[in-house]
Amino acid sequence: MSNSFIEGAERQSDMLKKDRRLYEPLDSIGAESREFLTNYIGIPADELLGHLRRKNIGWEQDPWTCIGINGFYRTYINDLPSYPEILSRLKRGQNLLDIGCCFAQDIRRLVYDGVPSENLRGADLHEEFIDLGYDLFRDRRTLKAEFVVGDVLKEYEYKRFDSKIDVVLANLFFHVWNWKDQQRVGERIVKFTQPRKGSVIVGRQLGSINPKEVTAPPRGSKVFLHNAETLRKLWDDIGVATDTLWKVDFSFMSVDFAKQLQGSDSDFQMFHFRIERQ
Ligand SMILES: C[S@@+](CC[C@H](N)C(=O)[O-])C[C@H]1O[C@@H](n2cnc3c(N)ncnc32)[C@H](O)[C@@H]1O
Repeated sequence: MSNSFIEGAERQSDMLKKDRRLYEPLDSIGAESREFLTNYIGIPADELLGHLRRKNIGWEQDPWTCIGINGFYRTYINDLPSYPEILSRLKRGQNLLDIGCCFAQDIRRLVYDGVPSENLRGADLHEEFIDLGYDLFRDRRTLKAEFVVGDVLKEYEYKRFDSKIDVVLANLFFHVWNWKDQQRVGERIVKFTQPRKGSVIVGRQLGSINPKEVTAPPRGSKVFLHNAETLRKLWDDIGVATDTLWKVDFSFMSVDFAKQLQGSDSDFQMFHFRIERQ
């Protein structure tokens, strides 16, 4: 990790102080997350919070909301309705790519639940996030997951995944783009999947009961928030462009997370998705 990166982190984050909505104190960590983290990291419970405070480093690097709200310790994958299926497929030797993995906490959760780490791949824009994951989870020498760094739409490195991936995990990922870019990213992700029936793309993201494009804090970018109908339309469009067919399962969740994330718009709600190649 570069010195300037660490110096930036040590100055602390002004952005975090500016947008309190996107900041959640670390001591709100629930019992289940504490248990996972203390056991996986192998750290005494009373040292956990001090260890995790380094998360502000990630926010300084690139202020993704998922970092501000402590997304790095919340493992989302184990809440997916398809989690038992995913676990069983990975334990039988299939592989998973966590796209936009950030600190790759979901990869650690899979390992904690018994998946061989050799079956896991992660990818993110920022090498620093991957490094911070190793620091936070203290597993640089033991974790055998393979990581790729760079823009999923530009980096040649991603070609190594083409036609190889059984399960793509895209947690809080597609919702960072407008419709057109979601389509481009979706078309790229289709190329990662094994070209056979049953390859799946799973995850959760922010949606909207009345689908719409909004400006997302704190980055100010335009993002499109789906309901079931528009997500199916997106995947029909991706299917036409890639000559593939996809079945979309969609379920809204009722979680405070969405309200906290976006303020007062009562339309906003998180949803789970499972998109299966036909
Ligand atoms: C909202 S965060 C979600 C992180 C994680 N999946 C989670 O559930 O906590 C989005 C992540 O996608 C990564 N990302 C954004 N654009 C990307 C791109 N073009 N290529 C690869 N990763 C990207 C960001 O660096 C960030 O870590």
